[in-house]
Order: sequence, then structure tokens, then C-alpha cells
Amino acid sequence: MEPVNVFDYESLAQAHMEPAAWHYYASGSDDEVTLHANRTAFERIRLRPRMLVDVGNCDMRTTILGTPVSMPILIAPTAFHCLAHVEGECATAQAAGRSGTLMVASTSSNRSLEDIARAGSGPFWFQLYIHDRKTSLELIQRATLVGYRALVITVDSPHWGHKERAIRSGFSLPPYLSKANFQDEDIAKENVFVTWETLDWLRSLTSLPIILKGILTAEDAALAVKHGVNGIIVSNHGGRQLDSVSASIEALPEVVEAVDGCCEVYLDGGIRRGTDILKALAMGAQAVLVGRPVLWGLATNGAEGVRHVLEILRTELELAMKLAGRPTLASIDRSLVKMI
Ligand SMILES: Cc1cc2nc3c(=O)[nH]c(=O)nc-3n(C[C@H](O)[C@H](O)[C@H](O)COP(=O)(O)O)c2cc1C
Repeated sequence: MEPVNVFDYESLAQAHMEPAAWHYYASGSDDEVTLHANRTAFERIRLRPRMLVDVGNCDMRTTILGTPVSMPILIAPTAFHCLAHVEGECATAQAAGRSGTLMVASTSSNRSLEDIARAGSGPFWFQLYIHDRKTSLELIQRATLVGYRALVITVDSPHWGHKERAIRSGFSLPPYLSKANFQDEDIAKENVFVTWETLDWLRSLTSLPIILKGILTAEDAALAVKHGVNGIIVSNHGGRQLDSVSASIEALPEVVEAVDGCCEVYLDGGIRRGTDILKALAMGAQAVLVGRPVLWGLATNGAEGVRHVLEILRTELELAMKLAGRPTLASIDRSLVKMI
């Protein structure tokens, strides 16, 4: 059966994957309150479509920190793509290139950041988990050398959330896979607390744009602007870190308001439909990022599966824009949504 939406890929991926690896991908933390909220929050937002608008030409091309992309749908950084497919992140990179969009490569990839950059036509951003300063610096230098265009600093993970489903399933990274960016297994495991001072240190090291991933409040958004970041990804890590935080779409308005146009704002968490994307754009996101659905496409059919998942989302967004009477990204504004 040909998958017709992203949820079809979820079932197909589960059937293709080892159960423990599946649970690692699917799991949220603790009671998975936030994981579920990431979906249900979209249902409480209703659309206010405009009629009798000429929607003959729909254009969703945009730029992300100046980089042109074919649509406001980007690939979120997720760890361990070789659990889904032998080609791992290299297949994902190919798909991103074919779809004309941007991939954020995770620090915790099974393919090295150099192999990923070689595999796709780009553009790429590098997601950095801060380790010790020497290791972080080396990663930044390597990413810069092979053309990554920005650093995404994930700030919601001073410790790992308790992913109970993954723990119960006995998940651990199979011995034939590794974190390919690291020579030393012990360093790869380390988590270092990132503070605003660490961020200033990073800023002094690199001229690459810096994007903070995992900001959920107006207070932190204002501080991020003060510290000169170029972008913010409103994210709760797909419900995998602190449970009971807001759905990311719920946190978006206060971040957008606090930032007040001083940097770009993106959103990830629970994006499964074109209408979800439309709602996020209406509420001030410049683009969305997609996590698990990319892994589902990858597990089901490698690069082609990822490309198809992205095309499903593109087609759904286009249809939603037309039916809402908002054929351009510029015409999508706050008046398109209301809360129930
Ligand atoms: C299996 C898995 C691994 C992830 N690994 C990372 C990671 O290495 N770095 C990171 O910043 N975020 C990571 N995330 C979080 C994603 O970047 C993103 O915030 C989240 O998946 C978005 O929610 P969605 O899966 O509902 O689209 C991971 C998420 C999942 C599901």
C-alpha cells in the first residue's frame, strides 16, 4: 500500500525496525505529557480561511538566515539514523538536497559530519552538543571546514530526559554503530552544562550564525537576543527532555513577541500535517523542522522515503495555503488562526 500521509510512514517504519530502536525513536520522557501535547495543541488552533482569493500560483520558497530553501520545512537534528537505515544520515542528506531544503545534522550521528556534507547537495547546519571546550572547538572547526552554514546549540539537555519506553525496551546503541564524530567513546558520552557564558565563548570562536534550540520562554528569548544569537528554535526536544513543559506551538507566541523581529524564530515538535505548518507560520515561525517523520521515511525506504515524507508535507502545505486563501508566505499572518 502506497503511504498517503506521514502517519502511514509511522506504521510502516515500526514494522521495519527493531522494537528497541523503534521505542528509542518514539519515546518521550516520563509520562509523555509534552510528547502528546505537541500534537493535541495543534487541534486547539483553528484556521480562519479567506475566500475568493486568487490562489492559482502558490509560492512557498523562502530564505533561512539568508539561505534559499524551496519550502519552510527543514530537517531537525536527530541522533542515530543508522538505526533506521544502513546509509543513515547520508541518505537523509541526499533527500534534503533533492527536496531543496536544509538539514540540521546532529552531533550524535552514526555517519561523520564530513560524510554527511559530502552525501547531499546541502545546505547544512551543524547541531552541537557542547562537550569539553577542546572537543567542541574541534567539532566547530571541522563543520566550518566542510561548509556547514550555522551552528545549532541545543540548550535543553544539561542531562538526558528519562525516556521510560526506551529504557523498558532495553535500548542501547548496537555495538556495530557508533557516534561517528568522535574517536573517544567516553568523550562522546559526556554532557557539559551550557550557560550564557559558554555561549559568549562560542560567539567569540566562530563567525558562523548561532541558533539556540530548545528555548521555551519569553525570558530566555530576550536573553538570547541580548547575547547576539541569530535564530531560536522553539522546541521541547520532541517531548524527550523536561516533561510537562508546553507544547512548542503553545510556547511560540511568547517567544515571537519577546524577540520582536531581532532574530529568526523556528519551531519543531509534532509537525505532521501541512495545516500544522500553516498554523506555526501564522503564529510567527519563519520555518518548521521535522524530527520523527524523517526517521519514519528513512526506516521505510531510505533516501526515497525521506524525500517522499518531505514531499507529502510540501503538498499538504500547498493545499492548505490555497484552501486558506493565503497563496504566499507573506500573506500568512496571525489573523489566520484562532484558539478554541
Ligand atoms: C530519536 C530522536 C533523536 C533526537 N536527537 C536529537 C539530537 O541529537 N540533537 C537535538 O538537538 N535534538 C534531537 N532530537 C530532537 C529533535 O531535534 C526535535 O526537536 C524533535 O524530534 C521534534 O519533534 P518531532 O519528532 O515531533 O518532529 C531528537 C529527537 C528524536 C525523536
